[in-house]
Amino acid sequence: MGDNYLLKVEDLTVDYKVYGGYLKVLDGVNFYVKHNERVGIIGETGCGKTTTMKSILRLQANNAIFRKGKITVGDQDILKMNDKNFHAFRKKGLAMIFQEPMIALNPVFTIGQQIEDVIYHASDTKLSKAELKQKAREVIASVSLPDADRILSNYPFQLSGGMRQRICIALAISMAQKLLIADEPTTALDVTIQAQILELIDQISKQKKMSLILITHSLGLTRNTTDRMYVMYAGSMIESCSTKQLYENPLHPYTIGLLKSIPRLTGGEFSNGIPGRLPDYMNPQPGCRFQNRCTKVMDICRRQKPSEIEVEPEHYVACFLFDQKGDKQ
Ligand SMILES: Nc1ncnc2c1ncn2[C@@H]1O[C@H](COP(=O)(O)OP(=O)(O)O)[C@@H](O)[C@H]1O
Ligand SMILES: [Mg+2]
Repeated sequence: MGDNYLLKVEDLTVDYKVYGGYLKVLDGVNFYVKHNERVGIIGETGCGKTTTMKSILRLQANNAIFRKGKITVGDQDILKMNDKNFHAFRKKGLAMIFQEPMIALNPVFTIGQQIEDVIYHASDTKLSKAELKQKAREVIASVSLPDADRILSNYPFQLSGGMRQRICIALAISMAQKLLIADEPTTALDVTIQAQILELIDQISKQKKMSLILITHSLGLTRNTTDRMYVMYAGSMIESCSTKQLYENPLHPYTIGLLKSIPRLTGGEFSNGIPGRLPDYMNPQPGCRFQNRCTKVMDICRRQKPSEIEVEPEHYVACFLFDQKGDKQ
């Protein structure tokens, strides 16, 4: 593996055990993030974005079942680490901002207690109480919140949604040194606050020279923030390329549908733009998982899952329309 990769996910396959069987949600996810790179992942609600990220950080739900795959961070095969080593490793390098800020914060501790706890665990040296408090103040200031002492003494419910999300960003950046994963970080917030939060994530990840994974169901938000994009559909990455290429030369019929249906500049749900819905994860049909919504479907799409084809340099698409070698009957 080249030195330039920070994260590499290969063939990640994860089910959820539910009443009556297994939901085969992640169907061989492949993607990578380079050092200091900003990657966007886009796909409609339910396609498996959060499941993928939680698998990387080992924050999966109890009923998640790992089937196969490999996850490498730097030169470490993280699925081979035991829990204790992995947690120590994660605390020093990887962090995630969640969709719903209220869930990420513990309601029974003050903001100050939670931030100090994170700083304490992320630090290599043992910090005194005063040092912890001072660092917590700096963290609050870094996310442009005034009156740090008051905020530190508050409980989560005493803050607005926008302030809570800033606190979550503050918590994440005090942990993240290498990779920040922002999972629809603005979905729960007002439109006016969304842009500010995104700007903050953008600015801080650049300042700290961290790699960024920005997950969203809204194409409008990723255009200026990311270098490269992945389009996810029903448990796998169906297209990936530079952000510029994605907007100028989308190839997969699903991506083309997505781009046609960007509703507003601020984003929003786009699933109405493409008729139909995600397949049933309990009994997915063989072949391409997009077949029933695809206007260009061919016979082979119903029999075989398309693999990723490099159509132009660094532009991959998993679709038989671009398979020069395959028979299209
Ligand atoms: N713990 C769980 N048990 C069963 N199904 C789940 C669980 N978590 C997520 N799912 C299902 O897995 C699919 C993918 O979910 P998710 O990864 O949250 O997608 P996204 O983040 O792209 O919206 C959805 O159909 C969702 O309902
Ligand atoms: Mg999600």
